[in-house]
Order: sequence, then C-alpha cells, then structure tokens
Amino acid sequence: MRHNTIKIIASSLLAFTLFSGCNGDSVADANNAKAKLGKALFLDKNLSYNGTMACATCHDLNHAMVDSRTASFNNGASTGADGTSISNRNAPTAAYAAFSPDFGVDEEGEYIGGEFLDGRAKDLKAQAKQPLTNPVEMNSSIKGVVSAVKADTTLNAQMKTIYGVEIFDDNNRAYDAIADSIATFEETVEFAPFDSKFDRWNEGSYTFTPQEAEGKKLFEGQGQGRGEGRARCIVCHPINEYHPTFTDYSYDNLGVPVNTVLHGVNGVTAVDNGLGGRKDINNGLLYGAFKVATLRNIAVTGPYMHNGIFKKLKTVVHFYNTRDTGGINPETNATWGAPEVPLTVNHTELGNLGLSDAQEDAIVAFLKTLTDKKFEHLIP
Ligand code: HEC
Ligand code: HEC
Repeated sequence: MRHNTIKIIASSLLAFTLFSGCNGDSVADANNAKAKLGKALFLDKNLSYNGTMACATCHDLNHAMVDSRTASFNNGASTGADGTSISNRNAPTAAYAAFSPDFGVDEEGEYIGGEFLDGRAKDLKAQAKQPLTNPVEMNSSIKGVVSAVKADTTLNAQMKTIYGVEIFDDNNRAYDAIADSIATFEETVEFAPFDSKFDRWNEGSYTFTPQEAEGKKLFEGQGQGRGEGRARCIVCHPINEYHPTFTDYSYDNLGVPVNTVLHGVNGVTAVDNGLGGRKDINNGLLYGAFKVATLRNIAVTGPYMHNGIFKKLKTVVHFYNTRDTGGINPETNATWGAPEVPLTVNHTELGNLGLSDAQEDAIVAFLKTLTDKKFEHLIP
C-alpha cells in the first residue's frame, strides 16, 4: 500500500518540545520538567512487578533505543521481567517514534501512523501505558506502577509539582500522568538528534563516499528497467523532507517468513496478522500488514522485521531483491521461508529488484549513513 501524499508530522508539537528549552517560556519549562521526570521513569526498574525491568531494558538509550540483550538478538524478540516470557515481536527503536502521526486513516482511505507495529496505540502516551502492565513485559498493574512512583521521594515530589498535589488521589489519573511524562521524554532531542552522516550531508558538512552515493541513488530509484535505480525503497521509506524519518507510516505485508527460531522458544503457533488481525480492525485484506519502519539508526537496531527474523542489514536488502526469484537467505543457506501471511503479500514493489551484489552492498553502505553520531561506534 503506498502513499504519495501524507506525512503531516507532529512537527509543530515536537519542535516545540525539542527546541524551546531555553526561552524561559512557562509551557516550555513545564515540558522540560515533565521530560526530566519522564526520563527517570523510563529508566526506573521499579516500575516492573519485580524490580528487574525498565522501558530502557528493551529500548536502551545507549543502543539506539532497542533491546541490546544478546538473547533478544539471537531469537528476535525480548524476554520479559519474569525472565521466561518471550514476546512474539521484535522491539522496534523508540527513537524518532514521536514523529508517527496519531493512528488514523489518510486521504486515500488507508490506515496510517500510531505506535506499535500494528498501530494499536493511538500515540506515545497511549503506548507507554501498555508495556508496564503487559504480562510478557513489565507485568505490573496500574496500582503497582503508581505505588512504586509514589513510594519514591524524588519522583513523588516531581509528580506533585507538575501534576498537582492531589495527583496520587486517583490511580488512573496518576497512571495517565506517568504515561504523559514518559511520552514527553520520548519527544526530546535525545530521541531525535538528526545528526547522522545523512543529516550532515544534507547540511553540506559531509560528503558521501562513491559507494554511499551509489546506494542513495539506488534507494531512490523508481525506474522500470532492471538493475540500477530500481530498488524503490523511497516508495515506502521517503526522503522528501529536510529531516526525513524514512517512513510514510503506512502498512504493508512484505511476505516476511515465520520466525521458527522464535516460535521454538516462545511456543507461539498462531499467525501474527498484524494490522488486519487487530480485533477492532479485523480485515483479511490487511492481514500480515505491519507499519513501515523508520530506517534511522537501522545499521545498529538489528535484528530486523516485526519478528526479528533477519540479523543482518544485507540479508534484508537481499530479501527485498530476491524474495520472488528463489534467492538464498545467507543466514540459513536455505531459500526464503514461505510468507507468514501469503495472500496479501506485496509483489509489485518488491521481491524481484534485479540488483547485483555490489548494488546491495551500496544500499547497505547508504543505510549506515543514517546512524546518529552517538551510535556510530556501534555499527558492525
Ligand atoms: C520487554 C521488552 C519491552 C519493554 C520493557 C518495553 N518495550 Fe516498548 N516495545 C517492545 C516491543 C516488543 C514493541 C513492539 C510491540 C508490538 O508492536 O506489538 C515495543 C514498541 C514500543 C514503541 C513503538 C515504536 C513504534 O515504532 O511503533 C514505543 C514508543 C515503545 N515501545 C516505548 C516503550 C516504553 C515507553 C516502555 C516503558 C513504559 C517500553 N516501551 C517498554 C518491547 C518492550
Ligand atoms: C512497499 C513498501 C516498502 C518498500 C518498497 C520498502 N520497504 Fe522496507 N519496510 C516496509 C515495511 C512495511 C517494513 C516493516 C515490515 C515488517 O516488520 O514486517 C519495512 C522494514 C524495513 C527494514 C527493517 C526495519 C526494522 O527495524 O526491522 C529495513 C532495513 C528496510 N525496510 C529497508 C528497505 C530498503 C533498503 C528498501 C529498498 C530496497 C525497502 N525497505 C523498501 C515497507 C517497504
């Protein structure tokens, strides 16, 4: 599903939070106080039922806001606070997540935006409420989370200053305030520095190597001929803004195979129908559709895809290139597995790109330039 017109980014709101820090404006000050509290909450393991897990466990601030634990990398998804539950989806980066528009329908009548890979949370605040109580994640309760915050002298005082002295009188209101603070933190520049080589190139202070430049050309190519210029990535990962996030926030089924390794450890047998499988959407035409991912920091946020099936970026590009031509998955030395949801797979925009090995490498080189400065040392 593709979208040519879209992307009303929540930039006015975001820009406000990000850049109004030092003008003495009282709203900005309130936002700064909220973001500071939000950061403390984001890092606080006491918000999980047994004190072992924070948001930051799966969205490591020092690792491009993904789960940097080895087990998660190996099987594709995150282990919960109980130490045994394993989710069925790969933790996407929380960086740049603030730019996703609220979940809704665009002018062409197609679903767009929201948080989570199936968009089931309208926005960041709604999102933040879910992992805290999700049994396979932090496994606490509204009451448990609020009690933990209330019991911490510093957090308690910050909550009262920002949200009023009565904030702890009502658990639901306090929980809402906690989610509000966390969301405000996720809107700060720490989550969106926009200082990758790509941004520096945009500003004129970095020159792409010939290979990176070639990769960019391929990434943008939409021509009909085979080979050069036909990777079509920008159809779904557009770069037509000054600070692109490399996603149009639409939904698509790429024909990603079942992650059998993951299912082997988490025991899941059901098909993950993504957007179409949501109870409130329940639409077979959208089975298997997942939100187009941001490609910012993509070189350091593996494993890839909603189920974490691919470990290397080159594998992802090779998948796009040869999915429909009997290509071999270099990580398993076998052909690509069958799509988890075959009926709705997009065969028009990917699957047979006709790229050479060197062209795949060039695209990978370009993707590496999307890494923010502070994470460049993590590039494999
Ligand atoms: C156990 C690991 C784990 C913990 C802890 C966790 N998350 Fe996540 N996070 C995930 C996974 C997995 C997903 C994708 C789930 C899905 O799409 O169904 C996700 C999705 C997200 C997204 C959506 C990103 C996008 O592009 O749609 C955001 C934002 C986020 N988490 C923030 C948080 C916050 C805030 C907390 C703490 C309140 C938190 N997470 C705790 C694993 C975790
Ligand atoms: C038709 C739309 C579409 C096109 C064209 C497309 N992508 Fe994607 N891309 C997606 C969607 C949707 C996802 C998320 C899929 C999932 O998780 O199942 C995704 C995910 C990815 C991921 C993994 C992101 C992550 O965090 O796991 C990478 C890397 C990627 N795309 C790179 C590319 C490159 C490179 C190209 C061009 C060769 C490309 N994409 C073309 C829609 C598209």
